[in-house]
This record gives sequence, C-alpha cells and structure tokens, in this order.
Amino acid sequence: MSRYGQLADQLQQQIESGVWRAGERIPSIRQSCKTHNLSPMTVLQAYQLLESRGLVLARPQSGYYVKAAASPQRISAPRQARYSGSVDINDLVFEVLQASKSRELVPLGMAVADPALFPHPQLGRALGSCMRRLDPFSTVADLPPGNEILRRAIARRYADDGLAVDPQEIIITTGAMEALSLSLQVLTEPGDWVVVESPTFYGALQAIERLKLNVVEIPVRPGVGIDLALLAQALAERPIKACWMMGNVQHPLGHTMPDGHKQALMQLLNAHRVPLVEDDVYAELYFGRERPRPLKCWDARGESLLCGSFSKCLAPGFRVGWVVAGAHAERIQRLQLISTLSTNVPSQLALADMLRQGGVDAHFRRLRHTLAQRQQQMRAALLRLFPEARISAPDGGYFLWLEFDHRLDSRALHTQALACGFSLAPGALFSSQGQHNHCLRLNSSHPWSPALEAALARLAELIHQQLGTGQG
Ligand SMILES: Cc1ncc(COP(=O)(O)O)c(C=O)c1O
Repeated sequence: MSRYGQLADQLQQQIESGVWRAGERIPSIRQSCKTHNLSPMTVLQAYQLLESRGLVLARPQSGYYVKAAASPQRISAPRQARYSGSVDINDLVFEVLQASKSRELVPLGMAVADPALFPHPQLGRALGSCMRRLDPFSTVADLPPGNEILRRAIARRYADDGLAVDPQEIIITTGAMEALSLSLQVLTEPGDWVVVESPTFYGALQAIERLKLNVVEIPVRPGVGIDLALLAQALAERPIKACWMMGNVQHPLGHTMPDGHKQALMQLLNAHRVPLVEDDVYAELYFGRERPRPLKCWDARGESLLCGSFSKCLAPGFRVGWVVAGAHAERIQRLQLISTLSTNVPSQLALADMLRQGGVDAHFRRLRHTLAQRQQQMRAALLRLFPEARISAPDGGYFLWLEFDHRLDSRALHTQALACGFSLAPGALFSSQGQHNHCLRLNSSHPWSPALEAALARLAELIHQQLGTGQG
C-alpha cells in the first residue's frame, strides 16, 4: 500500500475510535511530517484522501477538521453486497447520454474528455498517409486478431510495466467496450453470477443486462478499492463466474488501488479460481509519477482478461481497443467475427503509425498535466460550493464524484440541469438499482470559463433547493 494510503488508514482508525472527535483539528501537515517522517506532499495526499472519504474538512489557513458527519455510526454504517437477479439500466443510460449530447449545454455530464485535448491534426495525417500507402490485402490480413504491428506495439507497452504479453494473445477490438463485453461473454452463460464494483461504470451493467447475467455489486472503499471482506463473502455464497473491475483510475471514483490491495484482490480471485475482466481504459491518465500497473501483473494463475483502449488517451472516435485474452484468444476472435466482424482497418493502421513514430508519450504527458490542473481547479471550486458533500480525490482521469445527503435525487436534478443549460451524470447510472441516486459525476476536463462557473453556481442553487439547505 502507498505511504499516504497507510497514513490515511491510520488516521481513519483514530477518528473512528474517537481519538479525534467531530469538529476537532487533526495534526497539522507539518506535525504529521515530523511524526511519521514523511514529505509534506505525502501527508497532503493522505489528508486529501481522508477528505474524499468524507472524514475531514479543509479550512483555509487553519487546517483539517473532523467532519460532523464522520461520526463512527456514519462511516461504519452497514455496507453490504447487493444481489440482483436482473439488471435494467439500458433505457436510463440511453436517455441520459442522448440528452447530454447537445453542443449548447455546458458539458458537466459528458462521458468523454474535452475533444480539444487530442492530437487531431497528427491523427489526420497518419490516417491520410496510411490510406495512400494502403496495401489492399491488409483489409484481409488485419481481420481478427487485428493488425500485427499494432498488437506488437501494445505488447511492448506492457513490457514496460513488467508484464509479459504475447502479441498472439492480443485481439484488437472496436473500442474497449467490445473487448469487455466479449470477455464477459466467453466466461459466462445467461443466468450466471458476476461481480462488479459499486459504484461502477454503467457500461458493465449494460453488458450484464445484454448477456442476461445476475450481478453482485460490492461497495468500493474510496481511495482503496473493492471491499475485500464483502467480496470474499460473495465468492463463498454464490457460484461467481467472473468479476469486472478497474484497478486503475476507477470509473467513476477515480482512485487507483494501492499495490497491496491489488495483490490481495488477485490472491482472493485466484484462490476461488474466478477470472477477472479487467477494465484498464484510463491507464494512461494517471496523475502520479509512474503508470500504475494492471491487476493482471498479480494474476498468478494467468486467467484474467485485460482490456484497454486508445479512446480515452489518444484517439477518441477511432474506436480502437484491445483485449489481452490469454487462453480465450481464439474464442474471442470467433465471437468478434459474429459481432462486428473486425475493427476498422484504417484506424488500426493509423494508430500503429502514431505509436511507431513516437511522440505519443509526450502527448500523454501533456494530457495528464492539463487534466490534473483542470481537475484541481474544479475540485477546489466544488469544495467551496459544497462543504457538506464528499468529493472524490482522484488519482487520474477526468471525473469527480460527489456524494450528498441521501435525500438528493440526482435524476430529478439531471432534468432540472438540462433546463438550465448544463448536463450532469446522475449517480443512479452507476448501479443496477439506483443505489447512488444521491451522487453525481461531473466531467472536469474542460477549461475554466464563465459559463462553467455559472453552471456550477446554478448546480449549487438547485442542490440547496432540493435539500432545503437555504442559499437557493
Ligand atoms: C470505464 C470504462 N470502460 C470502458 C469504456 C469504453 O471504452 P471505449 O470507448 O474504448 O469503448 C469506457 C468509456 O466510457 C469507460 O469509461
């Protein structure tokens, strides 16, 4: 586990056991640096993690205080797994995504990052040059498993993480969405049980609905990852056939599991021989010093399927993703032949060219820097507007997750927001039974602007009106 994660856990325990009570100040950053022999940055990260867990509140010029809501009863409230015989989420997802598409709206609910952040001129040039040089036979040769140069380039990037991947086990897919849903399909039959995190990316729930699977939703501890005790219980109680999870930059919470948690999770899944479908689409959008390693690095049995994509980091709209499918590679290719037949060939060639030319790492660095800066700015504004909310402190990506009083109805808020000229993603999208309807996901990737500021102020008014907390 990271040093800041350890410090945060230690302080959390102390808060829960009453060492510091509601309203009291926890040790200053300087004091904690001395006591624990840590750098100010590490202590700050620990304090921000506690803030995102809703335990403390930063008061400018004064320090960090234990929140009133952080009483032991509130944080140790019964957390439980939810078992659902069926999932019915597609209509809500469709409705929200359609409603959020208009260019007229301030895009707080948008699912993709600010499109201006991607290297469109270079992508265009790579596409043009590949088409001019196109060997007509490549439309045949690049059928599943996909373009070999691209597969080798992806394998080389994994080698940098210390993960040995044979290009033969990589299948290029139409975005990660196809990779993930084909992976789930090879592992399950209708009626089987699968585990997801809660909250989770709604795409997982959509795939589960389409494949007619049953789902167990296991709560996530913000900043840490899926609750392992509850996962162990679910694995003991049900014949789980697969787990769909994100170790890095979880959607929607944005945290990356500490390595110790990744290891413990994989040991548990390996012990029960349950394969993982790993959704690693935000791997390049980390804010730390090094790219976090995929959970697959700890998969001693080699049974997990690792899915990635260029959609979030390099080429949105090209629809190119992949799955490292191991022993399932051939079955996935067969399934792909009857779903999309193959991934768009010009897109594959252009991306292979971009990776060959170099320069993508410099783009990734710029992208991460901008996303981190914009997120920090929006988060600071949200902390001022909503001191009573729990606001995530992501390790990467471009989403912020806000948790309010349980009375908040984010679906109603979504309708009101659209009428006021901005979008948001209601928390109900991120679970099968609307468990997170008191939460919101906001996109933090857009540049700060008067329109954005006004939309956030209006959001605060709407929320205070709904909760009857004045101001509105
Ligand atoms: C967590 C997560 N997984 C998978 C996907 C799908 O990725 P792609 O656009 O490559 O299909 C998304 C896209 O929103 C996502 O957020």
